[in-house]
Amino acid sequence: MKHRLLALLPEFREIHDDTLRENVIACWLDAMNRGGWAPDDLGSIPFSLLIEDLDVSFLDHVRACAKLSAAIHDLLADHYGDRLALNRDHLIAGALIADVGKLLEYRPDAEKGAAKAEHGRYLRHPFSSVGLGWARNLPDEVLHIAAVHSKEGAGFKRSREAIIFHHADFIDFQLFGGGY
Ligand SMILES: [Fe+2]
Repeated sequence: MKHRLLALLPEFREIHDDTLRENVIACWLDAMNRGGWAPDDLGSIPFSLLIEDLDVSFLDHVRACAKLSAAIHDLLADHYGDRLALNRDHLIAGALIADVGKLLEYRPDAEKGAAKAEHGRYLRHPFSSVGLGWARNLPDEVLHIAAVHSKEGAGFKRSREAIIFHHADFIDFQLFGGGY
């Protein structure tokens, strides 16, 4: 399962710290096991249940947001150098963990790919992502990115890395019709 997941989500390799990368991958494996998903399901889950006729999968969205986050980081690091301290590993790990809780918020559905799970009636994915990350000892800086990436984080002071991921996520979300 891990081998297939790495093939589908090569952005894990953008996390350079070995322990952090392995713990982020472990969160994904935990979530797939608990939610009853196989790696090849990830491309058939719509990334949002709030948008009708969506042709963007959960896997597309996670990868696009991780790539956007890395690109934004690299451009800013090149432009500002030492004037703007950013932790690239924390940013990429946060980007890859922020939506992993959707694998608990949703459940497999033969017709639509995914439907709201019972768990999702009580906890939206920013909470379940933090729970999964907490269980695998992810650093607070990474859990923070998951915790505040969506509307739950409005009004809370976001770290620089969380600001980058929040906007990367909303670019992809809103370009495909999402919005609140
Ligand atoms: Fe999200």
